[in-house]
Amino acid sequence: MKTDRRKFIKSASVLGLVGAFTDLKANEVVAGFSGHISAAEDISYLQQPLPYAYTALEPSIDALTMEIHYTKHAAGYTKNLSDACVAEKVNTAVLPLTSLLASISSYSVKMRNNAGGHYNHEFFWKSLFAPKADNAPKEELSSALQTHFGSIENFKSQFEEAARNRFGSGWAWLVKTPDGKLKVCSTPNQDNPLMDVSECKGVPLLGLDVWEHAYYLKYQNRRPDYIKAWWALINWDVIEQRYKKA
Ligand SMILES: [Fe+2]
Repeated sequence: MKTDRRKFIKSASVLGLVGAFTDLKANEVVAGFSGHISAAEDISYLQQPLPYAYTALEPSIDALTMEIHYTKHAAGYTKNLSDACVAEKVNTAVLPLTSLLASISSYSVKMRNNAGGHYNHEFFWKSLFAPKADNAPKEELSSALQTHFGSIENFKSQFEEAARNRFGSGWAWLVKTPDGKLKVCSTPNQDNPLMDVSECKGVPLLGLDVWEHAYYLKYQNRRPDYIKAWWALINWDVIEQRYKKA
């Protein structure tokens, strides 16, 4: 069933037929076999303006890293995603990016790398804000983290471990799993928890880019220092909203 539906989505999008279904939109089709996708934050196929200045995240992340990261690396994923969508005849006006990710095994490696790269970076920028010394999770998410991990410190420790130990390039995540639990995990390259190919599945609440391009200018080989400095940047209001929707 799962494979058949995936094939249907791809075939329909390739043929430009998805838009013809008035009461069976692509995301609802996907939600039928992957319910958590419908609760995930959808993101435009286009790169959005960075919601703050390149200097805004200093000193945790320096302005030059932000500028290169946003204008070169992230912009490159967006362009390559656009090219892949044209080549593979994805109707981006109809198929939500989350639905594309949920059926990514039906597409090329180029699509997988760049759909993930684009989604992950847009998601990442929105998660951050100017550093605050007393930054901490809020309200319902704070309670849930304590319930699932024993304490906020335990959660942070597990997250840091996942980020430190991701071999090579990838991401660390906090997700809400399809069975309603909070979980820390990591994915390689530009994979993410919305992908049907991912070992770590769930609604992403928080993600950390641990590719060297995200930190090397300031931190060089000291990835653990970058991870620790990053906690001050998290916009917990945004993460709280994602949690309430998930
Ligand atoms: Fe990145």
